[in-house]
Amino acid sequence: MRLITLSRCQPGMKLGKSIYNEKGKVLLVQGTELSARLIKRLGKYHVSTIYIEDEISEGIEIIEAIPPELRFEAENTITEGFYQIAELASNKNLQTMMKSERAIRSFQKIFKDILHSLNGNHQALNLLATTKIHENYVYTHSLNVSIYACQLAIENGLPLKTIEDIGMGAMLHDLGTVFVPLEILNKPGKLTDEEYEQVQSHCELGFEMLRKIHEIPLPVAHCALQHHERMDGSGYPRGLKENEIHRYAKILSVADVFDAVTSPRAYRPSMLPHKGIELLYAGSGTLFDRKQVDLFKEGVAIYPQGLTVVLNDGRSGIVSKYNYHSVGRPVIRVIKDEGNQDVKPYEIDLSTKDYLTVEIVEADALL
Ligand SMILES: [Fe+2]
Repeated sequence: MRLITLSRCQPGMKLGKSIYNEKGKVLLVQGTELSARLIKRLGKYHVSTIYIEDEISEGIEIIEAIPPELRFEAENTITEGFYQIAELASNKNLQTMMKSERAIRSFQKIFKDILHSLNGNHQALNLLATTKIHENYVYTHSLNVSIYACQLAIENGLPLKTIEDIGMGAMLHDLGTVFVPLEILNKPGKLTDEEYEQVQSHCELGFEMLRKIHEIPLPVAHCALQHHERMDGSGYPRGLKENEIHRYAKILSVADVFDAVTSPRAYRPSMLPHKGIELLYAGSGTLFDRKQVDLFKEGVAIYPQGLTVVLNDGRSGIVSKYNYHSVGRPVIRVIKDEGNQDVKPYEIDLSTKDYLTVEIVEADALL
């Protein structure tokens, strides 16, 4: 199985992994032969990358960090929870309080399941493995940020209670967007000043809601308030700097930006993970905490399995395995030689000293 961007997809290719709809139901089943019409339709749904199955990638299996069933259960919990908490904020009676308490408990339960799943996953994170079509990006985004932030908290060696708080803060960080119209959140063009102000208000709105719920620790509420703050003071809402920013928010901002740029939106396709990491590095120390960017890179699949790549010696192939502690130097199944001629596939491990000078220079190569 290999990963390609939709623009590389040709009629006749066979789908490697099922594509799901908003409700978690299979929309296109694994093995479907893609027609020009289907490819066009996927483009309309803003799908940026898909997995296909072919001979040259046979035997390369992609394992989800979070099984699709848990992912959909988690997204449903987040969707319902957002509204229950928002309802509480506008109408604080006993019934809504009980509902929001229930919502918090289900968030805690789902987060425990995610953590369990992550702890059992000894691979770098690859969240491209489940393709889902959705209208409201916020719920998928909240879950992804929670998974990335949790992984980063683990890489930081933080105690379990702190990891749980960060995971909860990550799930709820964009809660305030329930008050921002979807047309503004999904607007393809440039936002007007007024619209931008409305988008920015989600931090304070989320914080105000969360701090009223006594089951939520205050630092968790601060995740909503501070996740758009940046190290050099260029962020919002308060323009906090360096150590004025809560350490949870420093973790969250890295996870938040990485997921935002590597997820397709209505107005732009997604970046591949290695480009997302480059973007974080461009802001390391100025926008983002340097240590968090470095640690983040260790836990995420920069070159996910199945990605087609070109090497600096001209050979090309497919990432067949990643090396957990050298995620930028995976195992490559070589398909073409230096002269772009097909060869009998063989594997080279870029993390070994035999291949120290070999580097990946291009991803999503045409094979
Ligand atoms: Fe946000």
